Amino acid sequence: MSATELLARTAPLYDRVKKFIPPMEWPVFADDIAAILALKQQRNAVILAHNYQTPEIFHCVADITGDSLALAREAMKVDADVIVLAGVHFMAETAKLLNPAKTVLIPDLRAGCSLAESITAEDIRLLRQRYPGVPVVTYVNTSAAVKAESDICCTSGNALKVVESLGVDRVIMLPDEYLAQNIAKQTKVKIITWAGHCEVHERFTAHDIQQVRRDYPGIVVLAHPECPPAVVAEADYAGSTADMSAYVGREQPARVVLVTECSMADNISVHHPRVEFIKPCNLCPHMKRITLPNIREALETMTHEVTIDPAIAGRARRAVERMLAV
Ligand code: 13P
Ligand code: SF4
Repeated sequence: MSATELLARTAPLYDRVKKFIPPMEWPVFADDIAAILALKQQRNAVILAHNYQTPEIFHCVADITGDSLALAREAMKVDADVIVLAGVHFMAETAKLLNPAKTVLIPDLRAGCSLAESITAEDIRLLRQRYPGVPVVTYVNTSAAVKAESDICCTSGNALKVVESLGVDRVIMLPDEYLAQNIAKQTKVKIITWAGHCEVHERFTAHDIQQVRRDYPGIVVLAHPECPPAVVAEADYAGSTADMSAYVGREQPARVVLVTECSMADNISVHHPRVEFIKPCNLCPHMKRITLPNIREALETMTHEVTIDPAIAGRARRAVERMLAV
């Protein structure tokens, strides 16, 4: 394909991301995008992208986008041989758990998560000894080995429902201490927490929110529930990335701040040109490991394939499926 042809073909895609990519840089992006679109057809592949992926991934090559819950749900419906997970490793593992017969690729194996790093399967076994009979609700931001030791999974989009679905007066909810504390404020169920934190959301402070309200009177503040409770208390609304996106779509605030990862506001701003999106936001270094060149390479070389030890896959799948049934 000539350079002129390439630019003509990708022009509608450029239109979606022109706020973020200078025209001079577009030809490099366009080359990777055209190659990825062709490779998807060749490999019968789909790309699932989390809301924190950069706009050129989110708007130009992804087939399915969403929060962790939507990506897990959609992964089950995928009619393709190959799933490329543009997100972090636990999301790719969840897609593999729900699609054992499909090839699941992650473009960079280093795309981890501070929450997933904060707990091991052995930690859960010890917690069960300490709190016999108390069910373990595990955030999806964990390894398959940790999920395998759990009764049920949850995401930020369904955590309250999952906790209340168990019909008990006490649960262990891990590893995100702040998510657990934020949920504890909304339920009578007593929640035993673990000291894991998201390295992106733990950096926001109540002072940041007070400052933004002083700088932009009338601004609407939306926060992710992985933020410390003091931050959530200052917000107008707290919800998963999909919930925040739905809030903006529904309410069309004149000005809004999304207290979360930076690409989130960029991605949804494309659909809401009349809404003004204000910082602060923080970058997730793990989400940012995924790029157009490494998505292209993943499809060219069919790497890195995500596999799960069969000794844990069955039990981990049960915890995820139990969540999806709630
Ligand atoms: P969501 O499920 O809200 O998309 O959150 C995933 C995540 O990693 C947030 O940091
Ligand atoms: Fe993990 Fe936080 Fe990054 Fe989400 S934003 S993947 S919770 S480190």
